[in-house]
Amino acid sequence: MPLVTTKEMFEKAYKGGYAIGAFNVNNMEIVQGITEAAKEEQSPVILQVSAGARKYAKHIYLIKLVEAAVADTNIPVALHLDHGESFEICKDCVDGGFTSVMIDGSKYSFEENIEITRKVVEYAHARGVVVEGELGKLAGIEDAVNVSDADAQFTNPAEVEEFVTRTGVDSLAIAIGTSHGAFKFKPGQKPQLRFDILENIQKRLPNFPIVLHGASSVPQEYVKMVNEYGGKMPNAIGIPEEMLREAAKMAVCKINIDSDLRLGMTASVRKHLVENPDHFDPRQYLADGRTALREMVRHKIRDVLGSSNTL
Ligand code: G3H
Ligand code: 13P
Ligand code: ZN
Repeated sequence: MPLVTTKEMFEKAYKGGYAIGAFNVNNMEIVQGITEAAKEEQSPVILQVSAGARKYAKHIYLIKLVEAAVADTNIPVALHLDHGESFEICKDCVDGGFTSVMIDGSKYSFEENIEITRKVVEYAHARGVVVEGELGKLAGIEDAVNVSDADAQFTNPAEVEEFVTRTGVDSLAIAIGTSHGAFKFKPGQKPQLRFDILENIQKRLPNFPIVLHGASSVPQEYVKMVNEYGGKMPNAIGIPEEMLREAAKMAVCKINIDSDLRLGMTASVRKHLVENPDHFDPRQYLADGRTALREMVRHKIRDVLGSSNTL
């Protein structure tokens, strides 16, 4: 089966009241862990690549790893550019075999965001590639994404119809209280998502796929494991899984998860190395990392996204 776009995945997910997981990939063990989990759960999956991932692993390695995973598992996989920050990087990925790209114009004014997004849509659609746009700003710090709490802002529902109509995007990422990274809420702060904004947006955009970024739940058993085995992640707090399940039943068709994969993999590698101080073969500890990641993705697909057995 060749790589697919997200079009059919989202149509089925919208109707079925579930969401497709979009997981970030950076190396072979991550690609394998995610796609093996998706195969076991009989679910489609989106593998997404950030600018940082392309810098770390190189575009060509990521493409070949993903092609190998598709050949190995034979499940529908979309290959997506995460947070494309310019027309040029989107073009590179469209030309270089991706089936979906995100143009993240959220740092620009409304008009500038429309302009750059429309330009990417014109280029991508002419080549059979789908496009995700973004309205609103999520807080959080990643390689290519760095928005302070003060600059974060919820999506304004009054802007979504105009944005979607004038750009022609295929899906829209919105800001309703999620944020990037493993530290989403302060200790004592009650995690909250603005479901009222999501509801308003879904009324204005019937049958239109919405995307949630920054959707890691930061499972406390893994935070504990990291801290027990020499790491330091005090006060790491994520989005409660029940809230994501709720969003997946609504118009949210794509849920982005990266930090949880990092956490699960790192916790198990730390544990392995502390418990086996004589091990120095990377295959030994990376195998544990891959297993933890695979089990985490299976759990997300089955219990959070609800996309098991939808092939
Ligand atoms: O939202 C960003 C993703 O978690 C990717 O992070 O830019 O550090 O690869 P990265
Ligand atoms: P998390 O940091 O919550 O995993 O979000 C990942 C993401 O939104 C990638 O685009
Ligand atoms: Zn994101």
